Amino acid sequence: MSQAFLALILAAGKGTRFKSERIKVLHPLLGKSMLRLVVDSILGLKPQNVHVVVGYQKKEVMGEFTSGEVAFITQKEQLGTAHAVLAAKGVLKKYMNKDVLIMNGDLPLVRTETLKPLLTLHRREKNALTFLSAELENPTGFGRIIHSAGATRVIEEKDASPSERKIKEVNTGVYLFKIKDLLDVLPKVSNQNKKGEFYLTDVTGIMAQEGRKIGFHKTKHAGEFVGVNSRYELAQAIDVLRERKIRSLSEKGATILDPRTTWIDLDVKIGADTVIYPSVIIEGHSVIGRECRLYPFTHIRDSRLGNRVEILGSTEIVESVIEDEARVGPFSRIRPDSIIRKKAKVGNFVEMKNTVFGKQSKAMHLSYLGDCEIKDSVNVGAGTIACNYDGREKHKTLIEEGAFIGSGTELVAPVKIGKRAYIGAGSTITKNVSPGALAVSRSKQIEKKNWSRRKRKK
Ligand code: UD1
Ligand code: CA
Repeated sequence: MSQAFLALILAAGKGTRFKSERIKVLHPLLGKSMLRLVVDSILGLKPQNVHVVVGYQKKEVMGEFTSGEVAFITQKEQLGTAHAVLAAKGVLKKYMNKDVLIMNGDLPLVRTETLKPLLTLHRREKNALTFLSAELENPTGFGRIIHSAGATRVIEEKDASPSERKIKEVNTGVYLFKIKDLLDVLPKVSNQNKKGEFYLTDVTGIMAQEGRKIGFHKTKHAGEFVGVNSRYELAQAIDVLRERKIRSLSEKGATILDPRTTWIDLDVKIGADTVIYPSVIIEGHSVIGRECRLYPFTHIRDSRLGNRVEILGSTEIVESVIEDEARVGPFSRIRPDSIIRKKAKVGNFVEMKNTVFGKQSKAMHLSYLGDCEIKDSVNVGAGTIACNYDGREKHKTLIEEGAFIGSGTELVAPVKIGKRAYIGAGSTITKNVSPGALAVSRSKQIEKKNWSRRKRKK
């Protein structure tokens, strides 16, 4: 018998207890959908191919994958897990002498390592079916495992007697079948049960009766199989992944001071000797370099930070790049497509959007820099505003190397400020400024002597 096996993931059911418009398996856990997590853990076993049974919100589910990664089988009506497997009959028939690993699509915590013993045992015992069981403190909602007279079978909770419900060994929803045996037995499953569904678990009883060999591996990792059937259970599952992610980052050399309040998505990478202070959130595909410091309430999404970058408190950075040794914050907002170059400094209440901010340049206070190209060593004074939007279109502002923008300046785009030019504080700049020039545009100050005293007398 060949070692190769197929994988089949059941993901056609809506998941009604989520009370969501969205199918359950597409709900995200730290940046990855439930189904994506299941597929990833199965891919770790290197199956010959992976098929996903889709039905409810089929288009959306298929959209989660890049083409060719997995194949899809449609189950038009969701009449139960056995019915879902039956939808795959056509595919399974092509691999009659192989095995198929079948797994429920709502098991996001299961690791590849936890699945491996199933394959080993199945091959060693040459079973028709080998499944994973687990001992759960609270088995409510799960199918229970019944060991009797040498035969092992699964009974669904709804159909179990009170004494059977006391059993704590449950069916995890992961099975390895010899395809031939599965296809022999599957048509014999009926829907004569409390839910009126075709249960995949019924194949255990039928196989036992027919004398087909069933084995099981009771996993030590029961915690990975807790049901994710409601939003609250989703939150608990996310917490497990969060803890796992933080542990793995810590083992690779990042210091995470307060694991309880730190949220880091599964795809985030963090370099060694970086220190993450409490209450930091890093999402998406963000990459943080080495020796960085991220202070409290920093929120980073899909961004790349170089080495020795400092992000001071309460700063938001989205889809942007912060190069080595730059410092941003506190209270800065870096919006998509911004690049802050090496050793630049961006301070409190500075907002950037689609802006390149040059090496060693500074914008320390209260500025809006949208659609700007700011070269190296530029000083942007407090309260500078790039007026990039005329109500219809966005326009660019270019500030050449070494320029000095006085406080309270409005740069009405499109506009260019030449190399080492100076802008006097409080100016509204509507025309290009030549290199090295001083531009001032504000009305001359006037003074009316004793004006205050005269006003009071009136
Ligand atoms: C199932 C098992 C139960 C086990 C538990 C483990 C059955 C009958 N019961 O129950 O023994 O303890 O998982 O978590 O299998 N699905 C389809 N098409 C359908 C119905 C379901 O694709 O027609 C998919 C669902 O999207 C889901 C998976 O199959 O991903 C499991 O279905 P679900 O309804 O969650 O089964 P449980 O009641 O949890
Ligand atoms: Ca379930």
